[in-house]
Amino acid sequence: MDHGHIWVRHEVRSTERRCAVTPDDARALVAAGAELTVEESPQRIFPLEAYAAAGARTAPAGSWVDAPDDAFVLGLKELPEGPDRLRHRHIFFGHALKGQAEAPALLERFRAGGGTLLDLEYLVGEDGRRVAAFGYWAGYLGAALGVLQLRGGLAAPLTPTDREELDARLRATTPGGEEAPASTATGATRALVTGALGRSGRGAMDALAVAGITGTGWDREQTRDLDRAALLDHDLLVHCVLATVPSPAFVRPEDVTADGRRLSLVVDVTCDTSSALNLLPVYRELTSWQQPVDRLSDAVDGLPPLDVIAIDNLPSLLPLEASRTYSADLLPTLLTLVTEGPDAPVWARARETFQEALASGSAHGSKG
Ligand SMILES: NC(=O)c1ccc[n+]([C@@H]2O[C@H](COP(=O)([O-])OP(=O)(O)OC[C@H]3O[C@@H](n4cnc5c(N)ncnc54)[C@H](O)[C@@H]3O)[C@@H](O)[C@H]2O)c1
Repeated sequence: MDHGHIWVRHEVRSTERRCAVTPDDARALVAAGAELTVEESPQRIFPLEAYAAAGARTAPAGSWVDAPDDAFVLGLKELPEGPDRLRHRHIFFGHALKGQAEAPALLERFRAGGGTLLDLEYLVGEDGRRVAAFGYWAGYLGAALGVLQLRGGLAAPLTPTDREELDARLRATTPGGEEAPASTATGATRALVTGALGRSGRGAMDALAVAGITGTGWDREQTRDLDRAALLDHDLLVHCVLATVPSPAFVRPEDVTADGRRLSLVVDVTCDTSSALNLLPVYRELTSWQQPVDRLSDAVDGLPPLDVIAIDNLPSLLPLEASRTYSADLLPTLLTLVTEGPDAPVWARARETFQEALASGSAHGSKG
């Protein structure tokens, strides 16, 4: 049986400190019989020594290009621009299977080298649900940034932090907290989370709770007959819906001037601006760690200003927690690579998705 070996690569993006396998989970893989190599990486949140202590071999950053043919090269974000031919089985968020702009070039590299993309977004169980995702911490961060912006303003650029520090900042904004603006003493922040029952929605509700806010949670049932006036009667919207079928937009350009609008900040966790299923066609440009907040409208006619936060790499701001959750969720599936090999159902399905995309010249894709 072809069990290959798992090769954890360095991330080329310097802000990417997360890793799909923690040292503890590396130990579990080695105990199950995996051959494990971990590359050096200056920014990774876990030190290389911890992987070595767990029984992994170590290798220089970027040396996966010379890894044995049977290696499964595991990362999170994009590969470096070279080599032109990819001969390995690569496990990462490829952004290449939904027809994204960068898809043809990456697929061509796989075609040229005979390699395979096992996209992390397409590791799904029989029920079609992803076995591992970063959604919880995306929602947590989205809601946390929203509250911090509303209650005093976010300092830019954003930099990675840990949960303890983030929670302390959230608690400091609660009435009586040391950073609490005068407004929190007089009126409670009204926050709405859409997609509240999903991974990111649950994270968002939890972060609001840390800030002392009982968020309103809407999922499919509450949006079936969308009450837009009720939506606009919140200060903060944290949008966490995984849209799969077309439905009416939640916030439209004309809502900016709607009578009685209370909404002053939209945090779009989905960042679906370029999707045909975008439910927030009120803004176009994503925001970033450098410029987290964009102003959509100044205060007019007694209505508050309207701002947006739409950052597509939120979980990277909490690299430790995001890595731990993701690695714990991914581990059972990685173990099947060791115990059953690449024909284990989850891997076979991901391979099929890739092969279909190659055959159709790119079709289906990712955020993380
Ligand atoms: N910004 C980032 O850094 C980042 C990181 C990870 C994930 N994401 C994105 O967050 C989004 C949500 O991911 P998730 O893991 O939470 O998905 P999920 O599948 O766990 O949850 C989605 C929720 O949306 C609900 N939903 C679907 N249609 C709805 C509707 N019309 N009205 C109300 N609720 C509806 C579902 O019932 C479900 O509870 C995805 O678009 C994902 O790509 C963003």
